[in-house]
Amino acid sequence: MSAPALPLDTRLATTQDQSGFAIVFDEVHLSFEENEVLRGVSFRLPFGETKALFGVAGAGKSVLLKLALGLLKSDSGRITVLGSDITRMREEDLFQLRGKIGMVFQESALFDSLTVRENVAFRLLEEQDYSDEEIERRVREALRFVELEQTIDLLPSELSGGMRRRVAIARATITEPELLLYDSPTGGLDPVTSNTIIELIVKQRDVHKTSSLLVTHRLQDAFTMATHQFDQQTNQMRVLPKGQYCDVPMSFLVLRDGKVIFDGDIHELAHSQDEYIREYIS
Ligand SMILES: Nc1ncnc2c1ncn2[C@@H]1O[C@H](COP(=O)(O)OP(=O)(O)OP(=O)(O)O)[C@@H](O)[C@H]1O
Ligand SMILES: [Mg+2]
Repeated sequence: MSAPALPLDTRLATTQDQSGFAIVFDEVHLSFEENEVLRGVSFRLPFGETKALFGVAGAGKSVLLKLALGLLKSDSGRITVLGSDITRMREEDLFQLRGKIGMVFQESALFDSLTVRENVAFRLLEEQDYSDEEIERRVREALRFVELEQTIDLLPSELSGGMRRRVAIARATITEPELLLYDSPTGGLDPVTSNTIIELIVKQRDVHKTSSLLVTHRLQDAFTMATHQFDQQTNQMRVLPKGQYCDVPMSFLVLRDGKVIFDGDIHELAHSQDEYIREYIS
């Protein structure tokens, strides 16, 4: 069964003002040989917002994040990231732009032969602008944020799956990025560990207000994010009173058959009449 067309697909047909948006996808198409993965994807991520991206395995979620980073090129359509049209950008400029984006790759993707310190420092070392002391200070600060400073000299193989995810978040946030892309940060983790990762993402969101696009398989994660806020006094995530939602705008995007079949807030998601969405959220 193919995905129903949404009025949303036409809403972005004319390109409007792109300022105020961390990411804009406008009619993006991408195929690998005859496999049409994205078939006209349009959406916007306003600055300061967190958007959760859903879709079954193979729906094109990782591909979408890689397009936003300029690691893959679309066949057609336009992608604007932090105000720049990346579909026409030269590799040097893309490299510069990536410096403003933090990416938490699926399965963490840490370098096995490097210590936690070296993994977390990686982006700063790449930029070659920082003294050894500055790097050490920032690595420790990033690790403290994820409560893993004690692991600084360990190798990834000496960490649990949840700890590796937290190191990956420290590595992505060390440059104080303007935009964060999280690819399935809780994938393959048990519910309790998943929650600690979500708490960390909520902390990053509420402390730094970073615009974020987050791929997840677990609707529960996104609901937790929408209904909780990080309390800096107690250093804990706390549930908001019923009916109240986090200060940071949170939205939901559902990909199906290469198209966006839903883009809206938690109310719209909960009240969607679309059969597929209802099944997805039940
Ligand atoms: N480099 C590539 N070359 C060829 N095909 C690719 C490549 N990358 C992704 N694909 C294909 O694109 C489709 C979408 O892949 P993608 O990795 O984005 O899925 P996903 O939604 O992230 O799935 P999962 O939930 O399993 O992570 C799949 O059919 C995959 O085989
Ligand atoms: Mg993926």
